[in-house]
Amino acid sequence: MNTLSVSHLLGIKYLQEEDLHLIFETATHFKEVINRPIKKVPSLRDITIANLFFENSTRTKLSFELAEKRLSADVLNFSANQSSLKKGETLVDTVNNILAMKVDMVVIRHPDPGAAHFLSKRVKSCIINAGDGTHEHPSQALLDAFSLQEKFGDLSGKRIAIVGDILHSRVALSNIYALKMLGAKVKVCAPKSLIPKHIDSLGVEVSSDFKQTLNWCDAVNMLRVQNERMELNYFPSSREYSQSYGLTNELMKELRKEIIILHPGPINRGVEISSEVADSDQAIILDQVENGVAIRMAIIYLLASKLNISIG
Ligand code: CP
Repeated sequence: MNTLSVSHLLGIKYLQEEDLHLIFETATHFKEVINRPIKKVPSLRDITIANLFFENSTRTKLSFELAEKRLSADVLNFSANQSSLKKGETLVDTVNNILAMKVDMVVIRHPDPGAAHFLSKRVKSCIINAGDGTHEHPSQALLDAFSLQEKFGDLSGKRIAIVGDILHSRVALSNIYALKMLGAKVKVCAPKSLIPKHIDSLGVEVSSDFKQTLNWCDAVNMLRVQNERMELNYFPSSREYSQSYGLTNELMKELRKEIIILHPGPINRGVEISSEVADSDQAIILDQVENGVAIRMAIIYLLASKLNISIG
């Protein structure tokens, strides 16, 4: 297969395993390109992409922008808090006005689950979901799985744990879909209050025993506690959370094996992960960020190939 089965990237749920392999193959090529002295290719010089961020972001926003520029696309950046949304304009009107300026593709991050899907049904443009509320963060899951594949090769049968605020995490859901599609065994681990009901229906194991989970896994993806999405107290305090679910050097030393550590960022040092562990050789956190640019170049390139526009 040399084309994606989808015309938008709304979530991993809507992809097939062949799509993931095609994205990884294309990202491997672009990773080689961005490590050359001249990091840019002319492929998308006839394409204009708008990055619409209705929620804060450092990694995803800059990574998409850099990926677009490395592909020679024209780039428009939109920040919700400096826009006419404040004057009452709707999301669909905002996007249709941007598209009237001859924009070909929209990357959107939005606090509402389903925002990217909603938009894809109402505007005539290719939509890429850069994170929609607690729903999905597909480009993050793709870069996480790609980074794991670089370490392990085939992920079939590999044991991957996702630890932390599973309840509020779009990274967790997209990771579960991607890792299961690639044949990995997945376990989620958190205090019971941070585990969604019926998550086992996605074919994952569920645990609240952090040490047992660390002993089980080949790699662990440590998630941040998403205080900005919490209206209630889900655990007594950050200190107590950290004592039960924080990844420390002491815990790592107790393990009788080496495991790979991922984190999507932003890190809360001393809460879900200690500085020593985050900066250790077993942590591939900055490799994930590097791979994010290549993965996003692949996503954009492959989706642009489906538009009726010439690409190099
Ligand atoms: N991983 C991630 O989505 O980080 P940002 O919120 O900084 O984009």
